[in-house]
Amino acid sequence: MDQFPGVAVVTGAARGIGAAIVTGFAESGCHRIAITDILETELGELRQSLLTRFNGNPNDDPKGLTILAVPGDITSEPFIESFFTTTKTAFSRIDYLVNVAGVGKPYRRSIEVDVQEFDFINNVNYRAAWLCSRAALKIMTVQEPLPSPSPSAGTNESWTRPPQRGSIVNIASQLGVVSRPGASAYCASKAAVIGMTRADAIDYSKDAIRVNAVCPGIVETEMTTLDGVVREGLRESVNIAPMGRMGNVREIADCVLFLSSYRASFVQGHAMVVDGGYVIN
Ligand SMILES: NC(=O)c1ccc[n+]([C@@H]2O[C@H](COP(=O)([O-])OP(=O)(O)OC[C@H]3O[C@@H](n4cnc5c(N)ncnc54)[C@H](O)[C@@H]3O)[C@@H](O)[C@H]2O)c1
Repeated sequence: MDQFPGVAVVTGAARGIGAAIVTGFAESGCHRIAITDILETELGELRQSLLTRFNGNPNDDPKGLTILAVPGDITSEPFIESFFTTTKTAFSRIDYLVNVAGVGKPYRRSIEVDVQEFDFINNVNYRAAWLCSRAALKIMTVQEPLPSPSPSAGTNESWTRPPQRGSIVNIASQLGVVSRPGASAYCASKAAVIGMTRADAIDYSKDAIRVNAVCPGIVETEMTTLDGVVREGLRESVNIAPMGRMGNVREIADCVLFLSSYRASFVQGHAMVVDGGYVIN
């Protein structure tokens, strides 16, 4: 059985961790993927490159891979509602939502941050994840569950894995678990994502929907390397982690794929820290 027979939806998909997750879904046999990001050109390029790689040409193939790419601003409620409606119309269902879109700046103490900056970071990191989860849950709760493969096939075991109606993985951060200097708005937005994850996991367990979070440590992406000041500021933080290095986007994607898959059928409301040991030190 395919690892991902259902439909995946990834926000913040154009680059970095989001693009690695989309690539991971395609590599793991997910045939129907909807992606969104505010970076229209990069989003289109990712779609074209994956279709070329898996279908042999830059077009959708109903027998191969189909990618619906819809650019937009994830802080807009009307955009989110229309993106999820379009995805449902195109693919009939939504099985694996991954909320990735996020912003890091401003990295300053509270009295140096104005309300617009505070709202910006919370609107992308937390409010948008809530809006996307709500839109997906409306669809997931009323769809038929997908069967899960039985691990006991070919043996005398009688246990079968329960079907799954949907999975949501929210990308939080190690900074939702611990804090660092000059990042109160970011830390709080990611702690909120973890709180939302647990609350939704409680509310939707009875619907056979699992909701989990991945909390990346410092990962080498545009967010951490584009701005020289940010890059320099992170040097010391990287060494807090016993592993003493930045993570790779693939290392985050692997954990997201596990949590999205039937293999994580008993993992619920978990905030999986993937940080080279940062929070244990
Ligand atoms: N890189 C790290 O070290 C790190 C660590 C912990 C958590 N995270 C989280 O991982 C996620 C991905 O981060 P990344 O490192 O890949 O960063 P990134 O900047 O490369 O990717 C973030 C993506 O979100 C998109 N995005 C931002 N605002 C948007 C908006 N208003 N509408 C639509 N799309 C929008 C961006 O265009 C971008 O493609 C974020 O939620 C981030 O907070 C990253």
